[in-house]
Amino acid sequence: MPSKNIPLQHRLPTTYRIQAVKKETEFVTTMTFPVSLGAKPGQFVMAWLPGVEEIPMSVALDDGKKLQITFFAVGDTTRKLAQLKKGDLVGLRGPFGTQYEWKPKQRLALVAGGYGAAPMFFAASAAAENGCSLEVFVGARSKEHLLYIQAFRKLPKTALHIATDDGSEGFKGFNVGLLDKILTDRKHSKSKPFVDQIFACGPERMLVAVSNLSFAKKIPSQLSLERYMKCGYGLCGNCVVDPLGIRLCVDGPVVRNETCRKISEFGKCHRDGLGKKHAF
Ligand SMILES: Cc1cc2nc3c(=O)[nH]c(=O)nc-3n(C[C@H](O)[C@H](O)[C@H](O)COP(=O)(O)OP(=O)(O)OC[C@H]3O[C@@H](n4cnc5c(N)ncnc54)[C@H](O)[C@@H]3O)c2cc1C
Ligand code: FES
Repeated sequence: MPSKNIPLQHRLPTTYRIQAVKKETEFVTTMTFPVSLGAKPGQFVMAWLPGVEEIPMSVALDDGKKLQITFFAVGDTTRKLAQLKKGDLVGLRGPFGTQYEWKPKQRLALVAGGYGAAPMFFAASAAAENGCSLEVFVGARSKEHLLYIQAFRKLPKTALHIATDDGSEGFKGFNVGLLDKILTDRKHSKSKPFVDQIFACGPERMLVAVSNLSFAKKIPSQLSLERYMKCGYGLCGNCVVDPLGIRLCVDGPVVRNETCRKISEFGKCHRDGLGKKHAF
């Protein structure tokens, strides 16, 4: 059954002219559209390039006036998207999926890998408006690949922690390793937790590390899981995960850790557009 909560007009694409294009790095682009779809942090849209493909993209910002996506040029559609210019047309439908949830004034740790920095920034700026204090852990292969660093630095009540695999900036190692170190150094205890919740978005092996750390330290977490999406609203079944049978376009992409840990394929394999399993 498709989700009944998604209005028909959100299920159909509307084309919008690109308002601005920003090259974040050699392979990463942020695109701005002059529209609000009322998206919340963690949700995604289906971006349609007529004559090419339609692909899922996390919402990097929806401030009520404009919507942004940030993407890596990895294949046919994303490479063609990256060649578009201001004024070109892109179809968008959505928003779809679950969102990150927090309470006002909570202390949150946000763990971002790769383009996960974009949806994490959307969550960070919305949570900061709710008076939350933030510990942000951005990781990348090396300093040239770090994303949204200046934007995170401008947020109130935010401590930014940078980790690079090669040590070219910040901590040498993974961002989850840095979070683990800080949790241990600050003697996280049940009576006074360092953070109330952990949010994460990034490659699945990073999410598995966050899941294990959050479980070990007994800190609740919400993780953004990606699977091959087609319809985006619960109809086609392509994004179903074993053995729970939940559809990640409706019951995800943001999933609580208790549920992630019941997904047997979490961190192990995913399905392609034909439903064939591939190991990570
Ligand atoms: C909920 C969600 C949010 C995402 N947010 C972002 C984002 O903010 N920025 C970003 O750069 N990427 C994001 N992605 C991944 C993005 O959708 C893929 O990189 C993109 O579809 C690749 O398309 P392509 O034609 O360029 O490459 P292809 O060569 O077609 O594919 C490259 C790889 O991308 C993945 N992919 C391809 N098509 C899909 C699809 N329909 N659904 C899911 N994965 C697919 C597959 O793993 C594939 O091996 C997100 C994926 C999901 C599921
Ligand atoms: S059910 Fe179609 S993408 Fe999830």
